[in-house]
Amino acid sequence: MDTEGAAARRGAAGGRALPGPPEGGVPPQESARYIVVKALEDGVTIMGLTRGRDTRSHHSEKLDRGEVMVAQFTDPTAARKVRGRAEILTDVGRVESGV
Ligand code: TRP
Repeated sequence: MDTEGAAARRGAAGGRALPGPPEGGVPPQESARYIVVKALEDGVTIMGLTRGRDTRSHHSEKLDRGEVMVAQFTDPTAARKVRGRAEILTDVGRVESGV
């Protein structure tokens, strides 16, 4: 049965919730959309921007050259901002930042 909790866990990102969400924190979302960011220089920053009326950075991650981050869109994260030179792969295509 599809419990209220399971529906809530799928949330705005639309992913199918995995069983056994952790207490507190953000539950895993199996099929939430994701992007791949590959740093082409040291100190590339990836920010997670909040969903909803205001858009603020709630998380930031630094990558050094050659490091790759696979990042999902989740309930709290509606958009991402990349600062510095990076290759970004998404389901709408490939783009380079910082050029
Ligand atoms: N707070 C905004 C929202 O929920 C975040 C956002 C979504 C956004 N898509 C964006 C910000 C594209 C900049 C560009 O709509």
